[in-house]
Amino acid sequence: MSSFASRLLPSRNRGPDTAAMLSAMPVPVVLLDAENRFRFVNHAAEQFLGMSAASLGQQRLQDILPSDNPLFLLIDQVRRSEATVSDHDLTLESARLHKTGITVQGSPLPEEPNAVLLILQDASAARALDRQLAFRGAARSVTGMAAILAHEVKNPLSGIRGAAQLLETSVGPDDRELTDLIRDEADRIRALVDRMEAFGEKPIVRTSVNIHRVLEHVRKLAQTGFAEHVRFAEQYDPSLPPVWGNRDQLVQVILNLVKNASEAATHANNSRPDITLITGFQHGMRIAMPGTSQRLDLPLFVTVRDNGPGIPEDIMPHLFEPFVTSKSSGSGLGLALVAKIVGDHGGLIEVDSRPGRTEFRLHLPVVTEKDADL
Ligand SMILES: Nc1ncnc2c1ncn2[C@@H]1O[C@H](COP(=O)(O)OP(=O)(O)O)[C@@H](O)[C@H]1O
Ligand SMILES: [Mg+2]
Repeated sequence: MSSFASRLLPSRNRGPDTAAMLSAMPVPVVLLDAENRFRFVNHAAEQFLGMSAASLGQQRLQDILPSDNPLFLLIDQVRRSEATVSDHDLTLESARLHKTGITVQGSPLPEEPNAVLLILQDASAARALDRQLAFRGAARSVTGMAAILAHEVKNPLSGIRGAAQLLETSVGPDDRELTDLIRDEADRIRALVDRMEAFGEKPIVRTSVNIHRVLEHVRKLAQTGFAEHVRFAEQYDPSLPPVWGNRDQLVQVILNLVKNASEAATHANNSRPDITLITGFQHGMRIAMPGTSQRLDLPLFVTVRDNGPGIPEDIMPHLFEPFVTSKSSGSGLGLALVAKIVGDHGGLIEVDSRPGRTEFRLHLPVVTEKDADL
């Protein structure tokens, strides 16, 4: 097999060591030439595509995948931009191939015009590699739950509260304490349900939002309040286009992330709590729109980084689910709300955490010509 790899690879360009190395990699790697002919596939790619290198060597990508597959767009984009382009959650479907949830990275090869190197990953494999986690489903479960809660809890609750108020007028001072307790607790539940209702399905109203203003607003709020003793650093890309989103909701998102970062950074044995806010532009970051074949560009990213102890391992798999908290007085609703709002924006959130360095990274859509016309 490795002899095949060296046969496909022009030996003047890369030594046999490179081919052997690529072949040994557990991740499917494919090299296409300018006509999308398979120039190289490693062992993992043979398994992934379910075809031997020998038979792939006779074919082009369009022979094994319908030409309307989004993968071809990605490949075109790599050729046009001469930059690495990645796409998530692709479906590769044909008579002989059935793969969903595939992450693809395509890169140009500087020494071979129009050749494209593809790295393919099963989402589950990517997760096993513990690279980046994308959480989209959590938001949906929250939406459903919020609606049920609001509906099922509010009515009986106002009944309970009303009954307690009626009792208040006819009981003695000792029992009065109890009716007060019922009323106060009912109010507390009511406030919680109201907060949950923020998760309900409402179409968002979008405008063009300057993300740096949002970040600076949150930073000021934080520094005059809960993050008084935290040192902030900014690494902003001043050339960023505006985000296509809802300003107040984006403030909520950043505020929740900064609040968590501040709580983590100021833990007991950290003498220099730090938060870094980073923005930037990343070409080729696209995701599938759920339920459609459309792809959404998410070129703008915002990172909130702290130097706290990292996310507890047992929390990680459920991080964005509601009521998941490691704090004695935490609500566990912050990140659930973040996931919900980011999802409503068609965006993506990723986490990377280890002791001393935790990063939440948002990927957001920017204003396009189409939006600006509206
Ligand atoms: N920056 C962070 N560093 C470490 N752990 C974090 C960070 N952000 C979130 N977490 C973990 O995720 C949990 C859930 O966060 P969140 O949904 O905001 O709820 P809450 O802050 O009320 O606990 C937190 O309790 C904490 O364990
Ligand atoms: Mg929180």
